[in-house]
Amino acid sequence: FNPSLFRERLIDWFKKEQRILPWRENQDPYRVWVSEIMLQQTRVDTVIPYFNNFLNKFPTLEALAEADEQEVLKAWEGLGYYSRARNLQNAVREVVEEYGGVVPKDPAELGKLKGVGPYTKGAIISIAYDTAEPAVDGNVMRVLSRILHVEEDIAKQSTRKLFEELVRELISQEDPSSFNQGLMELGALICTPKTPSCMLCPIQEQCLAFDKGIETELPIKSSK
Ligand code: ADE
Repeated sequence: FNPSLFRERLIDWFKKEQRILPWRENQDPYRVWVSEIMLQQTRVDTVIPYFNNFLNKFPTLEALAEADEQEVLKAWEGLGYYSRARNLQNAVREVVEEYGGVVPKDPAELGKLKGVGPYTKGAIISIAYDTAEPAVDGNVMRVLSRILHVEEDIAKQSTRKLFEELVRELISQEDPSSFNQGLMELGALICTPKTPSCMLCPIQEQCLAFDKGIETELPIKSSK
């Protein structure tokens, strides 16, 4: 396994094949933040119209901070998990009041905000600020468990930490945003749960699970 070849193949593939998505139009940290919160429990196709509508109604951190909570919940209607919307507005208010309206660039500060867990923190800081931090969610664990043949149980808390350590070693220092988004996009488009498209995968040659013919057996997830 050659980490620099892996990085290069992943990033080249992402730059060519990435979907055009509204939150990829620019690196505005607020937009990235809203998109990552919406995408936590909701599919991309569902999120797109909600994201566009939400950004029309609340185009900036300040606009969301000043908005009436009921208005925010109304814009969230249909997405579900409404605590996401409440936490987002509370956290945005904190950014306006405590950080002068600038989303913190320090991962530790960012992670203190309501609703910003380890995955969301890593996603915002890598995509908006080009900082080399891991952003490990279920998709990323699936992709990496196959490429690196990791058999740890992804239902265990400690396994996400293990993958974060792996990403810290693998991540591109030059383009952490494309690296992290490349892992997400590979999981969404190619390295899918049931029938991965290995014949189209830019990493096929380096994938331990493909080599052994066990890609659909990974990741391992207990039902506890
Ligand atoms: N899922 C989680 N974050 C995503 C992103 N930034 N783009 C596409 N799908 C995602």
